[in-house]
Amino acid sequence: MNSTSPHILMCPPDHYGIEYEINPWMSTARQADHATAVEQWLLLRQVLVDCGAKISEVPPVAGLPDLVFTANAAIIYRQQAVLARFKHEQRQGEEPYFRQALESQGFSVSEAPGDFSLEGAGDALFCGETLFAGYRLRSDALGHQQIGAMLGVRVLPLELVDPYYYHLDTCFCPLAPDAAIYFPPAFDDYGQRVLAEHVSKLIPVEENEARCFACNAVVVGRTVVTNSGCPQLHQQLRQAGYSPQETPLSEFVKAGGSAKCLTLRLDGEEAAAWANTRTASS
Ligand code: ARG
Repeated sequence: MNSTSPHILMCPPDHYGIEYEINPWMSTARQADHATAVEQWLLLRQVLVDCGAKISEVPPVAGLPDLVFTANAAIIYRQQAVLARFKHEQRQGEEPYFRQALESQGFSVSEAPGDFSLEGAGDALFCGETLFAGYRLRSDALGHQQIGAMLGVRVLPLELVDPYYYHLDTCFCPLAPDAAIYFPPAFDDYGQRVLAEHVSKLIPVEENEARCFACNAVVVGRTVVTNSGCPQLHQQLRQAGYSPQETPLSEFVKAGGSAKCLTLRLDGEEAAAWANTRTASS
């Protein structure tokens, strides 16, 4: 992969639906409208292509409705992928398909250490040199520490305290090595202090927009793609020199996901210092 264009992994929503309840957003009584979900997913894909991204796809699999949320597949670091080990058995069947997809992209895929649960980039995001890692609701803090040792990167654990923000990427989105969006009440006081100390430009979102998954943004260059319904965040982003863009993702919110959850950046997030180094030298 020598391409300098951003490279994103997605999975078409052929078999997407609300078939079980593993987070407070999901209710099997509130089904996603299939045609609308397909339309919204294709729109997101097009928005990302228009930003210059190359999209690779995981083939959809019947019986694995959450396979669309590729953010959870693995933690990506250079050419290494640390495969997810899902907390809930409903999602564990996704692991071999994500492994296959990552291997076919040329990644060296390793298992998560021990028997910890770990939900990929959904709970582990680089901002600068540091891997910020959300734990308690889905991923285990000790597992993240061992991955940090394995990859040779510093890990800062952040406890997630609100079940609605059960993955780190629902309440924290690195924009650049020194900048991020976040929803403060999703963290305890200690986590909020850690973020304030290590990320110099923090953009807080209000609860009504956090509920619209404002923090679950895909960053491609200076473009920040979110679900519809986050006008205040978009205003703040414009003031900070970014180009926010919205695209409707209501059918995926019913499963507790939005833009970021539907993507996995294979060449490193914009905010990851290691990815910037690689781009600069390529
Ligand atoms: N229904 C999925 C789950 O609860 C949604 C995953 C969203 N992904 C994410 N990276 N936040 O596991």
